[in-house]
Amino acid sequence: MALIGVFDSGVGGLSILDEAMLRLPGHNYIYLADSLHAPYGEKTSAWIASRSMALCQHLAALGCDVIVVACNTATAQAIADIRSQLTDTPIIGVEPGIKPAAMQSFNGIVGVLATEATLNSDKFNALLATLPEHCRFIKQSGAGLVPLIEAGQADSAATLALLAEHLKPIQSAGADTLVLGCTHYPFLKNVIRQLLGDTITLVDTSEAVVKQLNRQIESLLRPSKQPTQDGSTTIGTVVFISSKDETTLLSMAKDLMTTDLAGHVVSAQRLGELA
Ligand code: DGL
Repeated sequence: MALIGVFDSGVGGLSILDEAMLRLPGHNYIYLADSLHAPYGEKTSAWIASRSMALCQHLAALGCDVIVVACNTATAQAIADIRSQLTDTPIIGVEPGIKPAAMQSFNGIVGVLATEATLNSDKFNALLATLPEHCRFIKQSGAGLVPLIEAGQADSAATLALLAEHLKPIQSAGADTLVLGCTHYPFLKNVIRQLLGDTITLVDTSEAVVKQLNRQIESLLRPSKQPTQDGSTTIGTVVFISSKDETTLLSMAKDLMTTDLAGHVVSAQRLGELA
């Protein structure tokens, strides 16, 4: 059984944790939400890099065998530094799925909704430069969406109105594919479908990230999914840690995730001072 650390600026990484617990239930998880400081997307590169480093160091000190930086913004701004510091712990990041989107798009027009910090990062722009020129990417910052999702308003009228504004350039360009380039945005799928209809392809990378996580932990150890004597399978623990309010984090996890947390040993903690 591996101990897997999953970190995000807030509740967005729950979209990755959900996929991970669905596909890899026989492991223990720590989910670390830095909701006190969300959104990261409008902060400076230096701040994002140093805070992300401190939180990953904390997860490594808690004994995580592998860490998922379940935040596009932190991955874009900090993953190279984190990997160079935490050399004993495999670090998995998330990036906007512009490559699969380019392959799936029929008309070659792809919208990319992500944070300002992700869209402006060297890492994202280097990835963009590797893609075929015939594909046109309409980049749009989702400013203001993360605070609404953090406040439990993913399906609200305010979110619908803000998203309608953000999606206008993508819609008027005629995009047939939209990349959800922030782990918070999969929680907006209902609202996005209301605005853009059912035909647009939505690309989110949680499945690909979890496949990579699976490969990583298989190379570390064998998961404990052996049937127990009563025929059920062994399930792991999940610890939810928040820098803001662990009770709210836990109740949002129950609301936002499709995984039935009642079948797991769940606890919640407040993040203390970092060393
Ligand atoms: N969930 C994050 C991401 O994937 C961060 C959003 C934010 O805090 O601005 O980019």
